[in-house]
Amino acid sequence: MAEIVFSRITPQNYHRAFQVHGECQAFPSSEQTFLSCLGNKYFAYQAEWEQQIAGFYVGHQVLDELTLIDIGVSPLMRGKGLGRRLMEHFEQQCRQRGAQQLWLEVRESNSVAINLYQAFDFAEIEHRKNYYPAAGGGWEDAIVMSKMFF
Ligand SMILES: CC(C)(COP(=O)(O)OP(=O)(O)OC[C@H]1O[C@@H](n2cnc3c(N)ncnc32)[C@H](O)[C@@H]1OP(=O)(O)O)[C@@H](O)C(=O)NCCC(=O)NCCS
Repeated sequence: MAEIVFSRITPQNYHRAFQVHGECQAFPSSEQTFLSCLGNKYFAYQAEWEQQIAGFYVGHQVLDELTLIDIGVSPLMRGKGLGRRLMEHFEQQCRQRGAQQLWLEVRESNSVAINLYQAFDFAEIEHRKNYYPAAGGGWEDAIVMSKMFF
């Protein structure tokens, strides 16, 4: 895989990462919400690959519990290992920040992301009924996944 350059997402450089977020979500956050995830307690990184920002993630820290808030790879760049590299970078950051436990939430239908998380040893903790709005109308369950990290 070509070299990937990770950089912190900031209020100055967030535009392309926000665009990738929009390419990844059926119900994207507003720009204001995305920007609010760059502040205190959050850490967000973007991955530049083949001269473009192709992926990103947002993490959040409360004491020694860290949550993966969002992760995404631009559709044309998927299936090439970038999601895995983003997860590795996220975990490296978690380790540096003294994480004891990692958390995330994922749509029940998102088998690609669930496979990725399982490959990183996340396990299901609970189902949240009707947690997300569904693309075709109605609601969809969330799966809460976690991993001890010490
Ligand atoms: C989830 C996502 C980040 C994965 O990124 P990616 O660059 O395609 O992932 P990788 O190529 O690194 O693959 C990593 C693992 O994901 C899983 N995976 C990737 N593509 C898959 C597919 N088409 N079908 C099933 N599993 C798949 C596999 O477990 C894979 O590991 P493997 O290659 O050892 O089998 C990407 O699909 C994405 O941006 N999806 C939309 C946003 C999203 O759903 N984010 C998660 C919100 S909770």
